Amino acid sequence: MRIIVQSSKCQGHARCAAHAPHIFKLDDAGYILPGHIEVAEGEEVIASRGARSCPERALELDLN
Ligand code: F3S
Repeated sequence: MRIIVQSSKCQGHARCAAHAPHIFKLDDAGYILPGHIEVAEGEEVIASRGARSCPERALELDLN
């Protein structure tokens, strides 16, 4: 599973990182780092929760 990060939509809510700080890395200003995220096996559930928690819909699940 992969998470497509649309960093231009990020407003720094940090809800993603509250779920999984090791998956959703933020910069010093609290914005998601650009670049897609490859989710390790076994981390899908927590990664999905984090992605869905973004109120700006900046994090899209790619299940392929
Ligand atoms: Fe940004 Fe959404 Fe996370 S606004 S910091 S990607 S919760």
